[in-house]
Amino acid sequence: MIIRDFKPEIWLDKYENDCDYNLSETCVSPMNLHQLQEVLNINEDIADNIMNLKLDYGAITGSERLRTAISGLYTGISADRVTVTHGGIGANSLFLLSYVNPGDHVITTAPSYLQSTLLPESIGAEITTLSFTDSNNWRLDIDALRAAVRPETAMICLTNPNNPTGMVLSDEELNQIVEIARTVNAWLLIDEAYRGLTYDAPHFRKAACEVYEKGISTGTMSKTFSTAGIRLGWIAGPTEVIDHLNHVRDFHIISVGCIDDYIASLILENKERILKRNIKICKKNLELVTQFVNQEKLLSMIPPEAGTTAFPAYDMEMGSEELCLRLLREKSVLLVPGSAFESEGHFRLGFGKPYEIIENGLLAFSDWLKQF
Ligand SMILES: Cc1ncc(COP(=O)(O)O)c(C=O)c1O
Repeated sequence: MIIRDFKPEIWLDKYENDCDYNLSETCVSPMNLHQLQEVLNINEDIADNIMNLKLDYGAITGSERLRTAISGLYTGISADRVTVTHGGIGANSLFLLSYVNPGDHVITTAPSYLQSTLLPESIGAEITTLSFTDSNNWRLDIDALRAAVRPETAMICLTNPNNPTGMVLSDEELNQIVEIARTVNAWLLIDEAYRGLTYDAPHFRKAACEVYEKGISTGTMSKTFSTAGIRLGWIAGPTEVIDHLNHVRDFHIISVGCIDDYIASLILENKERILKRNIKICKKNLELVTQFVNQEKLLSMIPPEAGTTAFPAYDMEMGSEELCLRLLREKSVLLVPGSAFESEGHFRLGFGKPYEIIENGLLAFSDWLKQF
């Protein structure tokens, strides 16, 4: 397989464990099981239940309990329209590898999570990438999408809420996208890893699988639910798609671990509590980020509407990788360069970590900027 580098992942791998202030992270302040039990406020003895789990493959496509809890995140989606995967990354790759063929026309966006551009490209699809710009408030240009689709367009891929910009599609925009996809009978794959983290209610906005007969939603426990350590994601879509994916998964997933399945079920059955915690963390930390950007003359930002990342622009004679490397070396603050998202002149700032880390990281960043 010939595939281009997944630059944000490579960057994180290389530098993440080498900084005092990690402002590159995208999960909302992960917890250990003791903390999780407290946040969820449940009486179940989690440790004992885990000790009593038989460590076999478990339910291959995800337990009925888990798939029912996942289906509760959507309207009109039953448990048999869900299959469980290894993280959101596994959900996207299972769908893309199963439904993109060489020569297909696939529409993607940038800046965005690059998986849905790079995987189809490596399969041999022809890619059209639509660019989000800060001059358009990072919103999707619906007319550009309409102009880009062709009779042979097989798939439109989006990330909503967007990583790195934090932009959220309005219901109206989503309806227009569905209408455009429908004219050419294209799949609409939306990576909804940050769904639930829109700061203003309703926190869960409309999902692809709810609004379109060829709409596929991928989700994960990693971001909104703070548990990247259980490596659990899912795909929700039409029954015949899920049936086909359940056939394909035998070749490269089989099941997820039964401990992960159990923990995810617990969280999703008590999701209101963790959501309340996480929305609060995101909003409070974003206030800090907004204050910081507003006071720095060299920076500007379209405020994110959801999620754990902002994508500020900077006005300095320096590439984004150089900026991030210097800031890391001189102040031990880690960001992700815009170049990793094919969007120079920006950096991704993740604010899901505990408040003190964000606060002290921004102070160090501010201090560093004084020299320019
Ligand atoms: C938009 C998006 N999708 C998917 C993933 C993959 O995450 P995971 O496999 O932990 O669910 C990420 C991780 O950063 C992401 O930002």
